[in-house]
Amino acid sequence: MTQRRGKICTQLVTGANKGIGFAIVRGLCKQFDGDVILTARDEDRGMRAVKDLMKEGLNPLFHKLDISNQTSIQTLKAFLHKHYGGLDVLVNNAAIGSSLFANQAVKTLQVNFWGTLAVYNQLFPLLRPRARVVTLSSRASTWTYCRCSDVIKDRIRNPNITMEQLKELIREFEESAHSDTLEEKGWVKFAYGVSKIGVRLMSYIQGRDMTKETKKADILVNACCPGFVNTDMNDHKGTKTIDEGAETPLYLALLPSDVKSPKGEFIEEKNVTQWPN
Ligand SMILES: NC(=O)c1ccc[n+]([C@@H]2O[C@H](COP(=O)([O-])OP(=O)(O)OC[C@H]3O[C@@H](n4cnc5c(N)ncnc54)[C@H](OP(=O)(O)O)[C@@H]3O)[C@@H](O)[C@H]2O)c1
Repeated sequence: MTQRRGKICTQLVTGANKGIGFAIVRGLCKQFDGDVILTARDEDRGMRAVKDLMKEGLNPLFHKLDISNQTSIQTLKAFLHKHYGGLDVLVNNAAIGSSLFANQAVKTLQVNFWGTLAVYNQLFPLLRPRARVVTLSSRASTWTYCRCSDVIKDRIRNPNITMEQLKELIREFEESAHSDTLEEKGWVKFAYGVSKIGVRLMSYIQGRDMTKETKKADILVNACCPGFVNTDMNDHKGTKTIDEGAETPLYLALLPSDVKSPKGEFIEEKNVTQWPN
């Protein structure tokens, strides 16, 4: 772990040792006046990324974070609480790639959905007034939604969906994957896509419910798709550079303090996108 520099504003990106997360840290370091914390599940890979950015004249800090490990999240929370007392920007970027196979489904959901939710739940109390939370979903969420049964689509599109109902939806997918009954139950065999539906809805619920809490009402929570980006996740088939992929997440992370929207939305190329009818 590198030493904090005592600045008040704090921004944190998960899964930032490479790919889009790395480029988001680069963008924050260039545009943000405060401490930017690059997190990674592997300390060596994380420190290497920090050193690469230092060669560019940037100064991110490092903290280890495995989003699928509660102790790791709690350790980070304690660090943030002790040294900063709050958090101004949280970018939920960490995720693992897709798999069609049932035995991979639980692992994919464990990191991409349950891990992201655990980070949010732990760090939520630290969010300062006017904080910004950005979660990397994907256009794959729309693709997957379009292939689900009408019953599941209605549950996804329910504007009043609660976090408990969302968790139930994801658990049902996991159980159907385990019993090899996904298609019968109206799902598509695409755990990554379902995980990205999950985080998109998670962000919607968090953004919507934030409005109800007076002290947190000006916090903006949004999900986004970075586009099709050239990274390890897609074997470098993506057409955008990582810096181009970081543009929409950075736009959401750096929304000015006086704006009230977007909030609880899904953003592609800086535009709000709804679930198709
Ligand atoms: N690339 C695209 O075209 C695209 C499109 C739509 C959405 N996205 C989303 O954008 C985000 C970044 O993707 P990317 O393409 O940059 O992928 P990537 O290059 O594979 O990077 C993923 C990052 O997540 C980290 N990670 C994985 N599991 C983790 C865990 N348990 N705890 C902490 N970190 C973990 C990885 O760390 P390790 O190096 O240790 O594995 C890595 O740093 C993801 O949420 C992805 O779903 C990407």
